[in-house]
Amino acid sequence: MNDMRITFEQAQALAVQAAKVFQPRTPISTQELFAGRWQEITALADAVGQPGLHIVIHGERGVGKTSLANVVRPIIRAFDTEGGTLTDVPPRLVIKVNANSGDTFSSVWDKMFRDIAWQDDHPTAGLIRGRKSQTSIREAFGLDDKLTVDEVRRVLSHMPGSVFIIDEFDRAAKETSQEFTDLVKALSDFEIDCTVVVVGVSETVDQLIADHASISRSLTQIHLPRMQAGELREILAKSEKTLSVKFSDEAANLIVHLSQGLPHYTHLIGLHSVRTSALKGLSKNIGRKDVFLALKEAVKQAQQTVAEKHSKATHSTHKEALFRHVLLACALTAALSHDSLGYFNQGAVVEPLSKILKKDVEFATFSNHLSEFCQEKRGAILERDGQPRSYRFRFRDPLLVPFTFMDATATDLLNEKQLADMLERSL
Ligand SMILES: Nc1ncnc2c1ncn2[C@@H]1O[C@H](COP(=O)(O)OP(=O)(O)OP(=O)(O)O)[C@@H](O)[C@H]1O
Ligand SMILES: [Mg+2]
Repeated sequence: MNDMRITFEQAQALAVQAAKVFQPRTPISTQELFAGRWQEITALADAVGQPGLHIVIHGERGVGKTSLANVVRPIIRAFDTEGGTLTDVPPRLVIKVNANSGDTFSSVWDKMFRDIAWQDDHPTAGLIRGRKSQTSIREAFGLDDKLTVDEVRRVLSHMPGSVFIIDEFDRAAKETSQEFTDLVKALSDFEIDCTVVVVGVSETVDQLIADHASISRSLTQIHLPRMQAGELREILAKSEKTLSVKFSDEAANLIVHLSQGLPHYTHLIGLHSVRTSALKGLSKNIGRKDVFLALKEAVKQAQQTVAEKHSKATHSTHKEALFRHVLLACALTAALSHDSLGYFNQGAVVEPLSKILKKDVEFATFSNHLSEFCQEKRGAILERDGQPRSYRFRFRDPLLVPFTFMDATATDLLNEKQLADMLERSL
């Protein structure tokens, strides 16, 4: 396809532009770049539309919770206005804050209220100091320094239809969680029409919300799973449209497989693949070769914490040591296992490890490595479950699985074809 050839100047411009579409480290903030998640979007809009319902969005680290929370405003707006056809529906107040470690119930709501101004008996987003007609929520409602559940309820009763989002809720102080449960109870009992959305890292709701059974009727639980292959493909499709590039089927499949449902990696590998094909190949057609070349760059730029964990787990002064090989075999086993919680059986590591080492291995070859991976000295990169004869393992940090694949190709532990073939079976 000749029209996909570009000059070096055009390639440089494309390399810069690509970073606007692929943002491995930044949550999505606009609907144009937000891919997939239809089911979750519908659940969200339904819950906001029903008075008395509140929402908890939870899931693994890095699956896209903040991105979903960021598009709540445009999503709700689209539903309220029936896709923009109803022009006289007033916009809702939507406020989002992040909880930090040490935050309490009072400090979280204090942050929230600082983002709201009281003007002409109405709440508006954004308090501008010195603007005469505005007062702060504290002043308007005569609030105490320490905010209680009752006070917050009283304030919220004056803000019908509003949505309050607390991200990173898992980082707030544990005691805080009970007060949130009490608030949800109070909002329901008093039939106050506003929605509280709690967002945090956790596999189950009870890890995030204390005593959640007591508010189960008032709570919509949205468990955000890893993204499906089609949804990750959509991220690439959006970039194709914006950047006028084209991923070959092989290249797109490989990126999707490597990402393991974690959109961070689709963005990271996608970005470097576009740049590689542009700068090295002067082309807007991205092939599998470009993806492999890009992996080296992607490894360098992966989140530092992930790289550090990998290095701590596999470090050894012995040349013959097999830690990197065994960890790679574990990552492949995890990718192939299809367990929803990411567990894999220890016995299943034999086959991929034999392939990597190009010789038959037995369980005894790597059993010590597995137990070391669970110990602090190797950063406890894996966790173990079950009985000695049938231990199951999983990666504590799911981001380590794709990172391990990238590291393996960047250091030639596994060649392109082997990795592509092994991953091909994983989805
Ligand atoms: N629906 C989506 N479409 C496109 N990209 C997405 C989507 N969801 C997430 N991403 C991308 O994936 C990466 C991680 O997303 P995000 O920060 O929202 O995850 P998270 O679950 O909040 O992570 P953490 O657990 O670290 O808070 C970001 O680069 C973001 O741009
Ligand atoms: Mg987040």
